[in-house]
Amino acid sequence: MKVFEKAAELNQFLALGRANGKSVGFVPTMGALHSGHISLINKAKQGNDVVVASVFVNPTQFNNPDDLKKYPRTIEADKALLEKHGCNVLFFPSVEEIYPEKDNTIFDLGGLDNLMEGKFRPGHFNGVAMVVKRLFEIVQPNNAYFGEKDFQQLAIIRYMVKAELLPVNVIGCPTLREASGLAMSSRNMRLTEEEKIEAAAIYKAMLEAKENAKSFPPQKVKEFFENSISHNPIFKFEYFEIVDSETLLPLLEWNSERKAVGCVAIWIRDVRLIDNLLIFP
Ligand code: PAF
Repeated sequence: MKVFEKAAELNQFLALGRANGKSVGFVPTMGALHSGHISLINKAKQGNDVVVASVFVNPTQFNNPDDLKKYPRTIEADKALLEKHGCNVLFFPSVEEIYPEKDNTIFDLGGLDNLMEGKFRPGHFNGVAMVVKRLFEIVQPNNAYFGEKDFQQLAIIRYMVKAELLPVNVIGCPTLREASGLAMSSRNMRLTEEEKIEAAAIYKAMLEAKENAKSFPPQKVKEFFENSISHNPIFKFEYFEIVDSETLLPLLEWNSERKAVGCVAIWIRDVRLIDNLLIFP
């Protein structure tokens, strides 16, 4: 696996491949890689000649400096894992390489950024849009792969790519779960084994919500979810929203023509977890 820290060198290397007709698949990450990321690498390998992964903990998407400081950084393990799974190129830039000057761009994200995560993490999605656009400009991939665990992020990246007319095909990939049902996430590394076991209750509550959606309206399903989670003192509940899968707007009633997704954010101590599940139909 080739490792680049400089954008210009990576760009030059990929231009050579592109000139020879090679397609590029890109998996942007913030590192602390797990099987979920590897499933994106595998998907990229299936559809492209060259697979590029990036590891960059993007400061502009952290509204909370403590969260940025505590974000797990495991670059040596990440390199070994990527190599083992046949990733061809790793881009591992410094903050100065990605942001040589202060970037003050404010993206119009169609209001998709005002709900759920956007409410609790002001500026987060602007930072995500900023870094993804910058990485796309450097890598110029044909296809880019993102996990569906970050459901709102995926919708916003699709919106941004369309609005900015970026020639990249954005591909969403299913969430990978532990045997317990806990969604795989780099943040799980900061949980104790006991907390991981408790955290599986989040998925269980979402499955119950899916079941309840057969008999109750969205508002009731939300109430049941909140009650079931708030029984457990380990959780600090932030939100559970049932939204239209495309507009991300909260749903007041079920519509058999539209998909409804339940999206949740919960804290365990100082670790913030998010997850989502198709609730209806
Ligand atoms: O999902 C992530 O890991 C990050 O938000 C991303 C897309 C790599 C941008 O920093």
